[in-house]
Amino acid sequence: MNERILELFQESPEAYVSGEEISRRLNVSRTAIWKHIEELRAAGYEFEAAPRKGYRLVSKPDRWQVSKLLSGLKTKVLGQKVHVYGAVDSTQTIAHALVASGAPEGTIVLAEEQTAGRGRMGRAWHSPPGKGIWMSMVLTPRVPVYFMPQLTLLSAVALCRSIQKVCQVEIGIKWPNDLLIKGKKVSGILLESSGEDERLKYVIAGIGISVNLKTEDYPEELRNIATSLAIESGQEISREHLVQAFLHEFEDLYALYMDKGFAPIRLLWEALSVTLKRPIRTYAPSGPIEGIADSLDDSGALTVITANGEKVKIYSGDIELK
Ligand code: BTN
Repeated sequence: MNERILELFQESPEAYVSGEEISRRLNVSRTAIWKHIEELRAAGYEFEAAPRKGYRLVSKPDRWQVSKLLSGLKTKVLGQKVHVYGAVDSTQTIAHALVASGAPEGTIVLAEEQTAGRGRMGRAWHSPPGKGIWMSMVLTPRVPVYFMPQLTLLSAVALCRSIQKVCQVEIGIKWPNDLLIKGKKVSGILLESSGEDERLKYVIAGIGISVNLKTEDYPEELRNIATSLAIESGQEISREHLVQAFLHEFEDLYALYMDKGFAPIRLLWEALSVTLKRPIRTYAPSGPIEGIADSLDDSGALTVITANGEKVKIYSGDIELK
């Protein structure tokens, strides 16, 4: 009933909705409405009550609304099981534990906040409460372990395309899977896997999207290198819609990949890349490599052409755009 009351307020945001109207449309008594409004207030929703006008929803806590997420979700597998948490150390840790207790492919874990969000290469991932999509997804692709880089690139394509669909921003992919808007990072992907007999047993795809963070939500040291969708688009973005869009994109691309292999994904990645044909630098164990990022190979490695015309492949790590 609380959810239905909220839906009524969302039909005409800013407006007063009278107790009489709520009572008529939801077929409940005025006393019951008052009780539900009090429950919603206790859960962080702020209502203004005015005599003869009714109630107005002034602000709502940004909490995951699972019913909103599930309504309109047309995927067959992804997101069919959703686990939502408040503060967790990392959704990755929870997803690994869920797999151990039998969670099926497509299970997703969402948290409001991560206290020890994990990034690639041992870095931390800034995950403040209520402002982002901190999500882990269970996949069980029956492919060899060395296909992992391809799945990483596929995830970046799905994420980039879903953000393009939901927000008016110019976004591109920096190899392998950082999403950048005007050179600043807005989203990152961390794939963790477990293999058996050289095949993947399962993969946990960790997706971090800085959705509604404001500049002051970032620590000083991140302000020049990170941004959010709200900062760049100038408007708040619905986290539920974005997760839906991502799950649809991912499911379609994943099916395409299982059917036709990496070639079509590679083309899509290349079209979204802000890396190719640009000068880059990377730090290999043998020392720094500089050159022009040329293309992706069949495994997902980045081919770089150095100043003396040598072709060097980069299989993992990070690159800097120069
Ligand atoms: C990167 O370094 O770019 C990858 C960042 C991945 C962050 C996401 S947030 C949800 C999931 N849980 C984590 O602890 N990390 C990933």
